[in-house]
Amino acid sequence: MERLEKMNDFFNARSEIYDEVHTSDVGGGIVGKNVVASLLPLSTKNLLDLGIGTGLELQAIFNRFPQIQVTGLDIAENMLNNLKYKYKEEYEKGQINLLNMSYLDYDYEEETFDAVISVMTLHHYTHEVKTDIYRNIRKALNDGGVYIENDYMISELENEDPQSIEDEFFKNLEILRKEQALDEKSEYHYDTPCTVPNQIKMLYDAGFSNVEVMYRFGNTTVLKCIK
Ligand SMILES: C[S@@+](CC[C@H](N)C(=O)[O-])C[C@H]1O[C@@H](n2cnc3c(N)ncnc32)[C@H](O)[C@@H]1O
Repeated sequence: MERLEKMNDFFNARSEIYDEVHTSDVGGGIVGKNVVASLLPLSTKNLLDLGIGTGLELQAIFNRFPQIQVTGLDIAENMLNNLKYKYKEEYEKGQINLLNMSYLDYDYEEETFDAVISVMTLHHYTHEVKTDIYRNIRKALNDGGVYIENDYMISELENEDPQSIEDEFFKNLEILRKEQALDEKSEYHYDTPCTVPNQIKMLYDAGFSNVEVMYRFGNTTVLKCIK
């Protein structure tokens, strides 16, 4: 039986190999991550990155916005340590503010960021949890701000019935949680990607005025959402 690991344990244990694996073919590799930088408005001065990990998406962002101020949240300390080492100069200049905490517990202050991004992290959460996060993201955005999400979503181009695939992922997670008597309050690593139409609906339900699919590569999808 597949033993589920707590979310932070899972990523802490894999932080050393993370960059090598995720810059190659996983989720469209670095190309999909770089799309995020290209979609940020030129006027972006500060951004919040949810599940920033080792900061693979940051290189293209710093290339395009050398002065940008980044706040990054992640529950896996080893991933953040890796990031600090890679972006030593920006970190020491105070351009990167890192918080080792869950984005489910973060205090999203009203109208604080020009942009919010999340890259390959939200496919572990339910519709309800995500819709709450999206409401908080929207609240934290300045007027005219954008939220860019790059994530693993179920492709209708490759699957006949994407909804039944999504349902199967959530059902399997429930079975595993019960079988392993997992603590209901903790987050475990198990992929539960959603269909693209469900993703878009959650974002509109959270109040975004416009949501568009900007990039597809297999299951990797990038959405741009306007406050
Ligand atoms: C697949 S990695 C993506 C890292 C980076 N954004 C990238 O694309 O390379 C997912 C990251 O999300 C973090 N994560 C998962 N759930 C989280 C949560 N609730 N709060 C903060 N970070 C979380 C994990 O620790 C991990 O570093």
